[in-house]
Amino acid sequence: MKNALKAVGLSSLLLFSNSALSQKFENLAQTPQMGWNSWNNFDCDVNEDMIKQMADAMVESGMKEAGYEYINIDDCWHGERDENGFIQESKAHFPSGMKALADYVHSKGLKLGIYSDAGTKTCAGKPGSRGYEYQDAITYAKWGIDYLKYDWCSTENVNPIGAYTLMRDALHSAGRPILFSMCEWGDNKPWEWAKDVGHSWRTTGDIYPCWSCEKNHGSWSSWGVMPILDMQKGLRKYAGPGHWNDMDMMEVGNGMSFEEDKAHFSIWAMLASPLIAGNDLRNMSDQTRKILTNKDIIALNQDKLGIQAMKFIDEGDFEIWVKPLENNELAFMFLNRSDNAIDYNYDWQFNIYKDDIFNYYIDFNKESFNWKNLWEKGSGNTNKKLKIKVPARGVQVLRLTPEK
Ligand code: GLA
Repeated sequence: MKNALKAVGLSSLLLFSNSALSQKFENLAQTPQMGWNSWNNFDCDVNEDMIKQMADAMVESGMKEAGYEYINIDDCWHGERDENGFIQESKAHFPSGMKALADYVHSKGLKLGIYSDAGTKTCAGKPGSRGYEYQDAITYAKWGIDYLKYDWCSTENVNPIGAYTLMRDALHSAGRPILFSMCEWGDNKPWEWAKDVGHSWRTTGDIYPCWSCEKNHGSWSSWGVMPILDMQKGLRKYAGPGHWNDMDMMEVGNGMSFEEDKAHFSIWAMLASPLIAGNDLRNMSDQTRKILTNKDIIALNQDKLGIQAMKFIDEGDFEIWVKPLENNELAFMFLNRSDNAIDYNYDWQFNIYKDDIFNYYIDFNKESFNWKNLWEKGSGNTNKKLKIKVPARGVQVLRLTPEK
């Protein structure tokens, strides 16, 4: 009896201490995280000089000032595990070591992110974290890492909730606040269970720098901007401060047209997706830099309410998306998917904005707003019909402020 009591006491103590640890880091990603990631442009070709140059470029281009913060190394930074199982960086590509690189990135006022995988191997075949979660978390904390993207390759028979929760707990117990970016491509509907596990979760397979294509890789596909947008259907209600639907790293500056890139950036901003650039920041064009540092568009993404835009009007190739903002402001995005510019006439007073998920009911006959165009010059008021030219495969984005 005495022993049984002792056993109960011990197990409840264990339970108690586990539950004390069982949480993600709070107060991170209260607005969608902003940064840069190596994968879209560099694939496996990562090294410390390039990462340092990217940190320099983030500062010099004005991106840091515009709100970008994380420099994230994706797959392939890895060396082998040491004889005790601790992961090491590739000595060939990171000769000064990850700690020195983190110190450098921090000295620029930025943060460093890294990548691992819940399976035995990463998607590029490097050592995964499976079975080494606590050791890896300790190593990342020791190095001074601030962000972990956690992938889903080589996970046969792994339970997704278990695997992501395990890494969440490992990071938390290692003690250094690390933003936890889940990347299981939406396969297991993370939006339904991951609010208290990660700070964001990928909703789709990988992005590809095209407007509406599907790029077939044999056993899997990557997706253009329009298919990724369409895959967000029904997910809006799951996002909010600290837990975002992640539409993948951006392809701005990676080959699409200026208008397509503007639309891509606006869509990611409106849908409150993390804004993680995926181009080479060291030699981007002025147009690309202007898109990535458009502070008015970024402000929509970083709005404190954290409400994802709703598709309000759908006319096939033409859509209107609305994002509620703080202080009763609103953002309107006019999206033209087609290959021809459209001259659009819009009567504000004809359409009531009704949003049952976040409880909005706005009748433009009763309330009027001043609007400002966020990509081009132009302003007006909602008591007058709007006439607006929306470029082919492009957008116009307006910010509406209640008239006093
Ligand atoms: C997966 C992820 C990508 C990238 C690669 C790296 O495909 O979805 O974003 O991290 O792995 O191998």
